[in-house]
Amino acid sequence: GEMAISLTVNGKKRQVEGDPAKPLLWVLREDFDLVGTKFGCGAGLCGACTVHVDGQAVRSCQTLLGDVKGAAITTIEGAAATDVGKRIAASWIAQDVPQCGYCQAGQIMSATALLSQTPKPTDEDIDAAMMGNLCRCSTYVRIRAAIKAAAA
Ligand code: FES
Repeated sequence: GEMAISLTVNGKKRQVEGDPAKPLLWVLREDFDLVGTKFGCGAGLCGACTVHVDGQAVRSCQTLLGDVKGAAITTIEGAAATDVGKRIAASWIAQDVPQCGYCQAGQIMSATALLSQTPKPTDEDIDAAMMGNLCRCSTYVRIRAAIKAAAA
C-alpha cells in the first residue's frame, strides 16, 4: 500500500506518498519531475539511471523508495552543487563528451561519486568506477579524459 516517505532530494527535504516498492527512478521522474535521470534498461545493466544515495552511486531503477527513507539523494539536477560536481560539469563541456547524450547524466553521477571518494583516481580506479555505465556512442575515451582533467 501507499506510505508517506521522507527523504532529501538535492538538498531539499521532501515527502512522497507512494508504494515503498516503487523504483526510485520513477519516484524522481514522476513524483519530483526530475527527468534528467534516464531510463535505459530497467535491469541494473546500463547505468543511465545512476544517482547518489548518501554519496554512493546507485542504480535508481534497482533502488526502491522504501530503501531510501531518510536518505539524501542527489540527481543530475543537483550534481553541480559541490566543488567536484562543478569541476566535472566544466570538464564534460571542455572535452565535449556527449554524442547523443542519453547516458551522460548517469556517466556524470558515477564520475562525481568517484572523484568525491578518490580525488586522484588511477586508470584502474576509473575503469572500476565507470564500467557499469554503458555508452552506445562509445564516448568512453572522452569520458576518461574528462575525469582526468577534472581530477588534475
Ligand atoms: Fe537502471 Fe539501466 S536503467 S541500470
